[in-house]
Amino acid sequence: MIESRKKDHIDICLNEDVEIKKNYWDEIKLYHQSAPEINIDDISIRTNFLGRRLEAPIMIAGITGGYEGAKGFNKRLAETAEKTGIGLGVGSQRPALEDERLRDSYELLAEFSPPLVVGNIGAPQLISQDGEKPFGVSEAKEALKMIDGDHLAVHFNYLQEAVQPEGDLKSKGVLNALKNISKKVPTIAKETGAGMSPEMAMKFRDSRVEAIDVGGMGGTSFSAVEAHRIEDDDNIKYIAEDLREWGIPTPVSIVKCRGSVSLPLIATGGIRNGLQIAKALVLGADIVGIAGGILPEIGKGEKAAVEYIERLKYELKLTMFLLGCEDVKDLFDINRVITGELKSWLS
Ligand SMILES: Cc1cc2nc3c(=O)[nH]c(=O)nc-3n(C[C@H](O)[C@H](O)[C@H](O)COP(=O)(O)O)c2cc1C
Repeated sequence: MIESRKKDHIDICLNEDVEIKKNYWDEIKLYHQSAPEINIDDISIRTNFLGRRLEAPIMIAGITGGYEGAKGFNKRLAETAEKTGIGLGVGSQRPALEDERLRDSYELLAEFSPPLVVGNIGAPQLISQDGEKPFGVSEAKEALKMIDGDHLAVHFNYLQEAVQPEGDLKSKGVLNALKNISKKVPTIAKETGAGMSPEMAMKFRDSRVEAIDVGGMGGTSFSAVEAHRIEDDDNIKYIAEDLREWGIPTPVSIVKCRGSVSLPLIATGGIRNGLQIAKALVLGADIVGIAGGILPEIGKGEKAAVEYIERLKYELKLTMFLLGCEDVKDLFDINRVITGELKSWLS
């Protein structure tokens, strides 16, 4: 059941329109510097994140695993992350934690050495939904061991659960459960496309996570994905379409979280090019995460995926050149102009 859902998600994202229409990054403007007074070769896009050295402030966000076709997919993702020196997140490891036979699409990641490897479990599984035993510290440790991972992302996907006929809608006690795991395993609180409010960022900090992935609205809409998957329940399909654009835009999530917690921030949600990466860093993200943008490239093969990441890196470097920034850390000090809808969100 979960396995076929994971496969459906990939197929739908590759073949249907599931992206948020509005491009919020276009509402952020940066000041061009006519004489940057730096040389392109002196620009460094390397960064330290969660104790790891990345070749660029980029990670592949958690996408998939746990079914036959996911093996090739995850192998190509791992090769891409290793070759380009960026971080790698894996999709929800729930299938493998519930059924040992579904481990191979995750375990193969241990054969590769990207600089940062992030495991993944779902927040709804931290509490009992239907009387079953919830995931705790031992499952969290097991998930990381399976992939030889560094940190464990606990994904909060309650928007997606809300628009699934079979969704898990119990959430009471989830922060306490997260805190118990975070005492023993290094965790990242991860949204999945509905964004992060400043209040939530503070609650996650108090739950002792080591980083936050703001998972903002602006890229893949999981409400749209689920709307395509629903076949025999018109009511929930209408609701999924209504909630297509639900959430806090990624740039707003970054600014609000940066203003309320000092934790490392990952900006996932609608990042598709190097200019957007620069803008995310200007607003206060430490690195970005990419899911929907890399899917079609992985579909073409590992070479296309590597070329895509290299293009993002080069575009980031060129943007830094035009801004006169030699180091990614310098981006945070850059003046920005916020226009349109973003201006209202941030005023
Ligand atoms: C096909 C697909 C499957 C995903 N599966 C997971 C998952 O298992 N766990 C998770 O934390 N996020 C998952 N995500 C969410 C992404 O990590 C990311 O937060 C979201 O897609 C927004 O980023 P994007 O706009 O770059 O796609 C998935 C995304 C896609 C496109």
